[in-house]
Amino acid sequence: MSMTETKAALAEVDTRDARDRGGEAQPMLIARGLKKHFPITGGVLNRTVGHVRAVDGVSFTVMKGETLGVVGESGCGKSTLARLLMHLIVPDSGELIFDGDGVGQKDGLSVRDMRRLMQMVFQDSYSSLNPRMPVEDSIAYGKTVHGASKAAAKEAARELMKKVGLEPSLFGPRYPHELSGGQKQRINIARALVLEPRVVILDEAVSALDKSVEAQVLNLLRYLKDHFNLTYVFISHDLNVVQYVSDRVLVMYLGEVVEIGPVDEIYENPKHPYTAALLASRLSMDPDERVEEPPLVGDPPNPINPPSGCRFRTRCDFAEKICEVESPALPETDGPKAHVCACHMFVPKSGHSKAAGLDEPAPKTLARSAS
Ligand SMILES: Nc1ncnc2c1ncn2[C@@H]1O[C@H](COP(=O)(O)OP(=O)(O)OP(=O)(O)O)[C@@H](O)[C@H]1O
Ligand code: SF4
Ligand SMILES: [Mg+2]
Repeated sequence: MSMTETKAALAEVDTRDARDRGGEAQPMLIARGLKKHFPITGGVLNRTVGHVRAVDGVSFTVMKGETLGVVGESGCGKSTLARLLMHLIVPDSGELIFDGDGVGQKDGLSVRDMRRLMQMVFQDSYSSLNPRMPVEDSIAYGKTVHGASKAAAKEAARELMKKVGLEPSLFGPRYPHELSGGQKQRINIARALVLEPRVVILDEAVSALDKSVEAQVLNLLRYLKDHFNLTYVFISHDLNVVQYVSDRVLVMYLGEVVEIGPVDEIYENPKHPYTAALLASRLSMDPDERVEEPPLVGDPPNPINPPSGCRFRTRCDFAEKICEVESPALPETDGPKAHVCACHMFVPKSGHSKAAGLDEPAPKTLARSAS
């Protein structure tokens, strides 16, 4: 199917959403204090000997129709956070509010209903699909599970195949091994959309694709978002891709949120030293801008036994005594435009030598002045 035909197919979609509850100003998702510590067992008696603090008190808001990018090094808890949002794993504590309704709470939204309204696309497009099922049936399957007739589910699957740019009569009867990586990921996206979700969580969804295919799938995701009125949580280790797709960006370090704000603010004016180092570490296309010494050295500390105080202090050029004894809190975000970070340098009178006094304005950015 050509791009023009894809666009024509998308234009037919009704963008009004009768399911909207609180209007635009009401966040689509609010996560409050989400926590997941995985127990580690050991010894002859297989006792719990410690915990991996994969997600450790994470709070944030996702506004309707936006793309929230989530970045951070491998193992910082991005996928665990995604699974917590989907309730694929039960949080140790914390709550999730979906368009004003508490998920799994009395008088709130049931986990089952929430799972229909929120869908997920993973990185590994092959293992996400049943190898013994034609891809059209894989897409239709979820619809039949939720009560649709086989004929209606097939029809919906074919329609969605058109929307993701795959001709149903040609690709529908194929098995996953007969498709390329990009085509398989298009099928996975169609499969996620067949239940008409409002939120899609994309966990490294384009990371395994070749660069040219990646760009096509990213553009497809943008179209689908507009035409189905979707909200995305876009998880990726690729900072360039996150910059391209996101409205706001959340930066994670060792299970915690260290910075959140509008994408341009984060990329042009990072506050937290970790965000600045992460951005400075990315490969520049311009050879003159490449740095010899990566600003972010070494691996993150062990999440079983993270450093006291600020978890980034063992790698931070600005660490002082206060950073060792007190954990910096992320200020409550003041709406979708807020740009905040969890660092003592940005808390007036925190005890850090670079922190402003109570009456002085907080520094715009400190991280860039490092060296
Ligand atoms: N089921 C589990 N049991 C024990 N530890 C786990 C489990 N799942 C994840 N972890 C640990 O939790 C931490 C966060 O893992 P997670 O997969 O969420 O990171 P990530 O940011 O998605 O990493 P990547 O970028 O490599 O995908 C890691 O230290 C990981 O080893
Ligand atoms: S709180 Fe201290 S150690 Fe942590 S990022 Fe800020 S300056 Fe660095
Ligand atoms: Mg992951």
